[in-house]
Order: sequence, then C-alpha cells, then structure tokens
Amino acid sequence: MTDVLVVGSGFFGLTVAEQLANDPGLKVHVIDRRPHVGGNAYSEAEPTTGIEVHRYGAHLFHTSNERVWDYVNRFTTFTDYRHHVYSTYRGEVFPLPINLGTINQFTRSAMSPAEARAWVTEQAGTAFSGGAAAAANLEEKAISLIGRPLYEAFIRGYTSKQWQTDPTELSADIITRLPVRYTYDNRYFNDRYEGLPTDGYTAWLERMADHPNITVSLDTDFFDEGQPLNKAATVGQLPIVYTGPVDRYFDHAHGPLGWRTLDFESEVLPIGDFQGTPVMNYADEEIPYTRIHEFRHFHPERDYPSDATVIMREFSRFARAGTDDEPYYPVNTADDRTALKAYRDLVDGESGVHFGGRLGTYQYLDMHMAIASALSMVDNVLRPGLVRG
Ligand code: FAD
Ligand code: NA
Repeated sequence: MTDVLVVGSGFFGLTVAEQLANDPGLKVHVIDRRPHVGGNAYSEAEPTTGIEVHRYGAHLFHTSNERVWDYVNRFTTFTDYRHHVYSTYRGEVFPLPINLGTINQFTRSAMSPAEARAWVTEQAGTAFSGGAAAAANLEEKAISLIGRPLYEAFIRGYTSKQWQTDPTELSADIITRLPVRYTYDNRYFNDRYEGLPTDGYTAWLERMADHPNITVSLDTDFFDEGQPLNKAATVGQLPIVYTGPVDRYFDHAHGPLGWRTLDFESEVLPIGDFQGTPVMNYADEEIPYTRIHEFRHFHPERDYPSDATVIMREFSRFARAGTDDEPYYPVNTADDRTALKAYRDLVDGESGVHFGGRLGTYQYLDMHMAIASALSMVDNVLRPGLVRG
C-alpha cells in the first residue's frame, strides 16, 4: 500500500518523503531513475584512495535559515569547513571573489579600500558610456559594473568557457551584479552556517530515507511503462510529488527548456597534493576547463592517503535537448521564460501532481533552498491535503 509517490530522491524528494513518513505517518514510495539516492548531491568514495568524490560537481553546504539548519542536523553533523576559491590567470594565482587582495595583486599596488573603490568606479564609468541599464550584452554589462581590466582578467574567459559563447553574444541579464569586496576577506559564502557533512553526503541522504514508512526503488524511471509506478499507471490514482524536469513531464509540449550541463574528468594522481586548495578556477580562455576540484581538501580532518589525490576537471556547455546530457543550470533566456509560463499553466491543471525541486520548477536551487522549499510544500500543501484515509 502506497499513500504517496515521490519521483526523484534528491534533497527535495527525500525531505518530502521523510516529513510525510513521520507525520502524518504516510507510506511513501520514492523512485529514482539513477542507481543511487541523493540526486546531484550524491557522493562516493573513490575506490583506490577512499577520498570522497562529489559525482555531480562539488557541493558546499551553507545556510542562514534556522529551520533548515535544525532540520539537517537531525541527519548529520557538519565539519567546520569554510569555502575559498582561487583563480589562475596568465600563470598567476589570485583570490576570489574579487576583493581588495585580488585588485592589489592584479594592479601591483597597495590601494586602500577607498582607493580601490575609486579605481573600480573610474574603470566602470569611463570604459562604456550608458551604464549597466544600456548594456546590450553580457560584456557591456560586466564592464559597466567592474570596468574593463577586471572583466578581461576574471570574467571574460571564464564566462565564455561556461557558456561556450562569446560574452558579446550572451544576454546582459545573465548577470545582475558582480560583487567586489573592498576588504581582504575571501571567505566565499556569507551565510551564518556552513560546513560539510562529517561522514559524507551519501550517509546523510541515506539516513533521510531510512524510515519504515519509506520504500525506495532505484533504476526506476517514471516514464518507463515497463515499471508499475509509471506516469500512466499512477497519475490520478494517488498523490504524486514530481521532482524531474517539468518539460519532460508534459512531453515537451512547449519545447525543451534550455539547460547548461557539465562534463567531468576525474584522475587519481600519485602525489599527496596537486593544488593546495579544493577549487582552482582557470580564467584563461585557452584552457578548456573552467576549474579543477581536488577533493581531499574538502576534508582536511580525514585520514586520507598522503601519496595519492583525486582531481576532477570541470567543462561546461549547453545541454543538448533529447540526449542524456544532465540538466544542471537553467539557461533562462526570454524564450525559456515564455515556455516556462506555458508549462506553469499545465502544472496548475495537473491535479494531484505537485511539482518541486530544481528540475520540477526550472530554477537553480542551492541545497538549503531545495530543503526549505520542500518543507514549505509539506506544511502548506501536502499535510493539509493528504489526511490519511
Ligand atoms: P536533484 O538533486 O536534481 O534530484 C532530482 C532527482 O530526480 C534526481 O535524482 C533524478 O535522477 C530524479 N529524476 C529525474 N527524472 C526522473 C524520472 N523520470 N524518474 C525517476 N527519477 C527522476 N547546492 C548547494 O547548496 N551548494 C553547492 O555547492 C551546490 N553545488 C552544485 C553544483 C552543481 C554542478 C549543481 C548542478 C548543483 C549544485 N547545488 C549546490 C544544487 C544542488 O544540487 C540542488 O540544490 C539539489 O540537487 C536540489 O535537489 P532536487 O531534489 O531539487 O534535485
Ligand atoms: Na558547487
């Protein structure tokens, strides 16, 4: 007997399942097309070194939401990891996000915060007339925000690699702001709480699913009519929480929504330390990858081997519709937004099916946002609507 079907075992789906299984005690069946739970936050130990590798890109947990912080601490403790990122540009390493240290290193000077601010304002004001509002493309927008020198060093090459498109051909509204910090603080996130799950993401995610009222079926695709919990057999028969792609649910009736995807190349190296830091960005356009992750540095407290390390190069491009490319970041062009509106009308008409998560709503959501949004769907929609009969 299943009371609720949850499609997708990422943070959104597992939060919904865990909440409904506990209160009001519903029987929840979670299906996922992948061979593991956890969605994109899934990680696993690289077999020869034991180093925890994030299969779908590095995941850093951070939040200022008290309720989410209390909730996630029911399933895992967190290390005191604090994220920092560096960027290599023309053979030199700079701290990110762009801060006073970046600017002084880049200009080989010792400007005060006020002097650096005046320098950036001058570069931004003189390089492009019209200001941010008049920017016709991403390049003009970026220059109007931080000036040409910083744009050319830290934004142009990286952005064109992210999108495989010249920034003069990208829409200005891809960026709203380019924050510059006029201090030497290069801590990446500003949230009150930050850390990595002490015994890994997969242990955390599996604990969320570990409940007598929750059944998980992996390698099970909602659109595969060869498995019993498929769309045709379940819609209208029981309540469904769907966290897969919204356009796929409606057979791409309004066309495919645009996504950016990533390709990852992992390598085990016979050295103790490759780059001395978890994430190194590569700003030069000639280098084909955008960044390199070195996973041992996410857990300096662990007893990892001293003669081996795991690195992962990240490449970025548009996902090709109708292929196995994983949808990672919404492109969100004007056409995408029009199509999304049309899909939202279809969603409103699909009674008994609740669309959530990053794929179900076509939205980039950090983990804490996916969890917060699942908790509010449970409070505001699911619990009031699903009284056990
Ligand atoms: P997902 O995790 O995508 O889960 C959806 C699940 O649905 C998947 O397991 C999928 O297999 C399943 N599914 C889809 N279609 C079907 C189907 N037809 N049948 C059955 N199952 C299906 N967040 C942070 O807070 N910090 C970070 O540092 C961070 N880094 C990120 C890096 C990358 C590269 C990406 C892409 C995301 C990152 N995120 C990060 C965001 C984080 O991954 C999301 O918040 C989280 O994945 C959202 O969970 P979700 O449940 O909405 O979606
Ligand atoms: Na990330």
